[in-house]
Amino acid sequence: MINVIVCDDYNQLSNVAFEIMLSVIKNKADATLGLATGSSPIGLYQNMIADYDKKKTSYKMIKTFNLDEYVGIDVHHPESYYSFMHRNLFDHIDIEEKNIHIPSNMGDDLQKNCDDYNKLLAENVIDIQLLGIGSNGHIGFNEPYTAFDSLTHIVDLKQSTINDNARFFNNDTSLVPKKAITMGIANVMAARKILLLATGENKAEAIYQTIKGKIDESCPSTILQRHNDVTIVVDKLAASKL
Ligand code: GLP
Repeated sequence: MINVIVCDDYNQLSNVAFEIMLSVIKNKADATLGLATGSSPIGLYQNMIADYDKKKTSYKMIKTFNLDEYVGIDVHHPESYYSFMHRNLFDHIDIEEKNIHIPSNMGDDLQKNCDDYNKLLAENVIDIQLLGIGSNGHIGFNEPYTAFDSLTHIVDLKQSTINDNARFFNNDTSLVPKKAITMGIANVMAARKILLLATGENKAEAIYQTIKGKIDESCPSTILQRHNDVTIVVDKLAASKL
């Protein structure tokens, strides 16, 4: 079931998302969080940091699993998702480094990295999976026509995604990695609860398809219609086609 919450602006969206995230953490001090990168969750992460500073909500027992990571840039590159997560959240809360999981892009055997990640995900059910969405309906880096039963795998990024993400690489598409490792759609669907955030007109069509479109691999996010606990929090622009 998909519950949709339309917010006036990004600030309100980030507050609503934070309340949902906090309720999971308050109910379960050792919750497993599925986390996402991109601009959509940054306000939520800022709220988590502010709450940690003021109210000392502890992340000592929390485990996290990130959706994806680029392949072909160093893990310490400022735009790697490892760096993004540390800069925007992990460095500012009391989470233990050993409890942080991000698909590894290191070494020669990336398939083994995928297999290891799947094994960990099989052992740890995600209590809440945070998602952004690509303008083409991708979730994580599961591009259109990814199999709905896919697990963590290596992907070639679509040109539209490379274009969308060029803003993080000096607006130079040649600097954007062409491959990534992503949790698969089946990994995402295994989460107990899903929280998807989207803003802006650029996402309106993808949000419309996610909620009202035919469930089809041509738009990965449509699979969410088959999950029993999805909340989509959007601003008015992203909701404009509903
Ligand atoms: C990237 C990430 C996705 C994210 C998407 C949307 O492609 N791999 O997980 O959902 O960007 O990003 P934004 O929130 O910046 O629009």
